[in-house]
Amino acid sequence: FYFIYKKYTGERKFMSHISSVKYENGNLMDSESKLLCVGVYKDLSMTPSGSDIDQEFDGAISSAIKVGDIKGKSNEINYFYANDRRLLTIGLGEKEKISSSKIRHAAATVIRSAISKKVGSLAIDCLCEGLESCQAMGEGIVLGSYQFLNYKTKEKKKFEIQSVSMVGCSQKEQDEINKGVVIGSSVCLARDLGNHPGNKATPSLLAETAKDIADVGDMKLTVFDRDEFTQMGMGGLAGVAQGTDEPPKFIILEYNNGGDQKPKILVGKGLTFDSGGISIKPASKMDEMKYDMCGSTVVLGVMQAIAMLKPKLNVVGIIPSTENLSGAKAYKPGDILTAYNGKTIEVLNTDAEGRLILADGLSYASKHYDPEYILDFATLTGAVLVSLGHVATGIMGTDDTLIKKVKKSSQSVAEKVWELPLWSEYCKQVQSNIADVKNTGAPMQAGSIAGGAFLKEFVKDDIPWVHFDIAGTAWGVKPDSMNPKGSATGWGVRLVLDMLEV
Ligand code: BES
Ligand code: MN
Ligand code: ZN
Repeated sequence: FYFIYKKYTGERKFMSHISSVKYENGNLMDSESKLLCVGVYKDLSMTPSGSDIDQEFDGAISSAIKVGDIKGKSNEINYFYANDRRLLTIGLGEKEKISSSKIRHAAATVIRSAISKKVGSLAIDCLCEGLESCQAMGEGIVLGSYQFLNYKTKEKKKFEIQSVSMVGCSQKEQDEINKGVVIGSSVCLARDLGNHPGNKATPSLLAETAKDIADVGDMKLTVFDRDEFTQMGMGGLAGVAQGTDEPPKFIILEYNNGGDQKPKILVGKGLTFDSGGISIKPASKMDEMKYDMCGSTVVLGVMQAIAMLKPKLNVVGIIPSTENLSGAKAYKPGDILTAYNGKTIEVLNTDAEGRLILADGLSYASKHYDPEYILDFATLTGAVLVSLGHVATGIMGTDDTLIKKVKKSSQSVAEKVWELPLWSEYCKQVQSNIADVKNTGAPMQAGSIAGGAFLKEFVKDDIPWVHFDIAGTAWGVKPDSMNPKGSATGWGVRLVLDMLEV
């Protein structure tokens, strides 16, 4: 498979810290890798090469089991050394309860441990239990290796595993692992873009990334600049972008490989830095607002995976992108803007800017396409952190069938969502006295729902739509083998790819 070269990552073609994923037939014992890995279940049975490896290591595994150091608990790790070779056992938990999610975690744990030991090459006994878990293993290998080191200048800190070999996986299993590797690296693209600071990850960089993706995936790319989208009537994006000299962009990526299927549309908030504007944010943690474009990285991550996997689908990605700054030209509280669908918006708080740029994105999607559905992704409200913490994404929508579909994929990829209601009481709270709508709801109340209720005004009534408020999940989650500390997560890429059945 082909990994997209990224200018901003310098020489590196691969977003994670593995140079290659390979396959070996036969027995793990015969691998020349510097570290060998077998899985152990709770019932103390092992993955296929287990007993041979135990012999090669002079019975070290069975001894460790006997004395109770190996219990086969999920993610339990033990190292063994014999005959100048090194072995790692990974606990897989109860065999009957093995799931894709557990295998993804186990693979990630192995990789992260190997990297911490600076192991150059690694061979893992095939952990697959069914094809779905093979994909998860591929994802886990890549996600477990993810680190954001682009700004570290000491070479010593940039350790990379040269090769990870999967041993004893069938051809079909290998195909699934490859797919998982592609998906994992697409999540890593989303993470990288999120982690780059505001002076690097600009609207222009998002547009360049979209160009790279379009080239690989035979997609049509359209980018409107400030003059163009202002002329077209995108008053929301134009209003927010007034206060910055960094060129804003309205990006459209169209992937057409599904014949006469209705397109599925993904819209992502690409706010590359959110200072709050004139309604300025407090200084503490304002740096985290470099992540305010993580909605757009869900879209780009998904489109990158599509570009490489080429499913029979029609998918459109739409990204309104700008900074939100204050200054002499900045838009002000009280200003009234006209969105692309003609609705007027009273701006009561310039910090509720995400919904203003999404208003144009959703209007554009509604006007120019006849979509099967629209999904939007945005770090939209601090309030969703109050209600759901860093654990789940808040979702809202108008179509029960689509919401069910979202929840199903959420379960199968282990990315949690929780639905909030869009009842008419809430929808009334975004009506304005002097314009059609206002960009805030009732003060200090139901803030995330107000965001959703506002966005609903810009989606054509008969189009199924779900809004994802990822302000709690896009970064800041509890670190684990899959997510290093202080990194964007790429939350949502896997969920959407599952929904699309890529
Ligand atoms: N990007 C922020 C939301 C955010 C805040 C995400 C903190 C993660 C952490 C968004 O643009 C914003 O500022 N929303 C306001 C809306 C309010 C003014 C109605 C918020 O949540 O305070
Ligand atoms: Mn804001
Ligand atoms: Zn914002």
